[in-house]
Amino acid sequence: MTPAELAGIAARAYRHMTPWTEAEFAATLSHPTALLTVGEAAFVLGRVVADEAEILALATDPDGQRRGAARAALARFERAAAARDAVEIFLEVAAANAPARGFYFACGYAPVGRRTAYYTCPDGSRDDALLMRKALPEN
Ligand SMILES: CC(C)(COP(=O)(O)OP(=O)(O)OC[C@H]1O[C@@H](n2cnc3c(N)ncnc32)[C@H](O)[C@@H]1OP(=O)(O)O)[C@@H](O)C(=O)NCCC(=O)NCCS
Repeated sequence: MTPAELAGIAARAYRHMTPWTEAEFAATLSHPTALLTVGEAAFVLGRVVADEAEILALATDPDGQRRGAARAALARFERAAAARDAVEIFLEVAAANAPARGFYFACGYAPVGRRTAYYTCPDGSRDDALLMRKALPEN
């Protein structure tokens, strides 16, 4: 997927956060630590630094949701991160983002912390970030 395609999916899917722009996707992808995996109308973008992976953006086009697309893209991300020697994955998710929290929980991620008023929502209000983690099986 190109940065423009990623930005298109994010613009249609994101409700609780301001979606990344094409330029922001392109800048993140230009780093050698970046890791992108895709599925049917879904993507997971993150990075792997030393033995830790982080998910930075994840979305499924609204027309394709609840068909396992994000789960498949995330499984690919986890395998690729493990192949780069990551042993754990972290992410931050808005506390009000019930679909994403439900998704990560279903995929084996557990809350390990909370950052108060971390996000500025599209309407200008603030929301906490939940920090979630999953351990990866060793190679
Ligand atoms: C979160 C998101 C990526 C899930 O994508 P998806 O392709 O619909 O997810 P999947 O079909 O792979 O779902 C896998 C499991 O996650 C859980 N899940 C997915 N969407 C859910 C929802 N809206 N509410 C509760 N649980 C949900 C379910 O357990 C689901 O399995 P099931 O459909 O058999 O019940 C999608 O809702 C999205 O794009 N949201 C907007 C972007 C966003 O908030 N990204 C996260 C930023 S951190």
